[in-house]
Amino acid sequence: MTETEKPLLEINKLHTWFPIQRGIMSRTVGHVKAVDDVTLKVFHGETLGLVGESGCGKTTLGRTIVGLEKATSGSVTFDGHDLLAMSERDFRPFRKRLQMIFQDPFSSLNPRMTVQEIITEGLAQFSMLEGSPAEAAARLLGEVGLDDQYIHRYPHEFSGGQRQRLSVARAISVQPQFIVCDEAVSALDVSVQAQVVNLLMELRDRYELSLLFISHDLSVVRHISDRIAVMYLGRIVEYGQSDTIIEAPHHPYTQALISAVPVPGEPKKQRVVLQGDVPSPSAPPPGCHFHTRCPFARDECRGQAPVLANAPGTSDGRHLVACHFADNLHKTDTTN
Ligand SMILES: Nc1ncnc2c1ncn2[C@@H]1O[C@H](COP(=O)(O)OP(=O)(O)O)[C@@H](O)[C@H]1O
Ligand code: SF4
Ligand SMILES: [Mg+2]
Repeated sequence: MTETEKPLLEINKLHTWFPIQRGIMSRTVGHVKAVDDVTLKVFHGETLGLVGESGCGKTTLGRTIVGLEKATSGSVTFDGHDLLAMSERDFRPFRKRLQMIFQDPFSSLNPRMTVQEIITEGLAQFSMLEGSPAEAAARLLGEVGLDDQYIHRYPHEFSGGQRQRLSVARAISVQPQFIVCDEAVSALDVSVQAQVVNLLMELRDRYELSLLFISHDLSVVRHISDRIAVMYLGRIVEYGQSDTIIEAPHHPYTQALISAVPVPGEPKKQRVVLQGDVPSPSAPPPGCHFHTRCPFARDECRGQAPVLANAPGTSDGRHLVACHFADNLHKTDTTN
């Protein structure tokens, strides 16, 4: 990626709020601010990792990008086209170009359909089938490292890792440019996780795919991602090259996430244990959303929300952090 390169996906001030309705008149009494002012870019052929604890809004962000959730405001621009301003009809070709892989293939793969039906469904829908469905299914199984003899089997006949390979085959069948992988390996054993992550990396490189790789687990995200965005309660709190985020995190939340991940060959870090759970996105703490759990919070943090700005010592937008005191805090030594 270069600074002059145009991003494939550009998200600007995106909000996805869910109304909270009460009473027989379904009066709206508030909103769950699942995505609350997110600005991000994803470049051609790159993997952006999106990390944060459960409930931070990662899935909602991914679903909004691919059109499965309706945004409240903001824009999502894909290859120069404003997706949120489009009619359903104009959006149709983008359904093919943007795909999503989910955590739980049991619920995303129809148990009554054969492998062939599942992975050629999109090809038929978009009139992309060349040759017979059986030939297309066999070729796609080969792409994801599965035996082409499996085309007449059903999802329950496969292991968790194999089912996730089927999800990958289905996603790549329609030749997308962008795939949201939402906790795509989180339910798998560690060794199987690595195999599926390696498969995604191979396919990304072969087809110059861009990935938004969502996980609550930073150790998985760091392995696959070129850049990492850290999300907390609907907002991005830190964003930059993977190595920078891992080696020089500036936000106390990122520091806490990283302290929980052992790095081979590096001294063990002192674990920063965060107190309490993520607060409710229907009533986020005022000021810095993180102040209720931040070991460094001061009065200013409770009154005023920090903006996402260049990290101290940088000016090129490649490393952004949202903390009033990032300047001092990045010197905090978490090495024990
Ligand atoms: N359809 C929905 N209606 C209401 N609230 C929702 C809906 N989907 C998600 N949420 C809420 O939005 C917040 C963010 O959820 P989610 O995007 O699933 O986070 P994550 O993927 O980081 O765990 C949570 O509080 C969740 O309960
Ligand atoms: S702004 Fe304050 S509360 Fe928020 S992360 Fe920085 S120090 Fe902590
Ligand atoms: Mg999720």
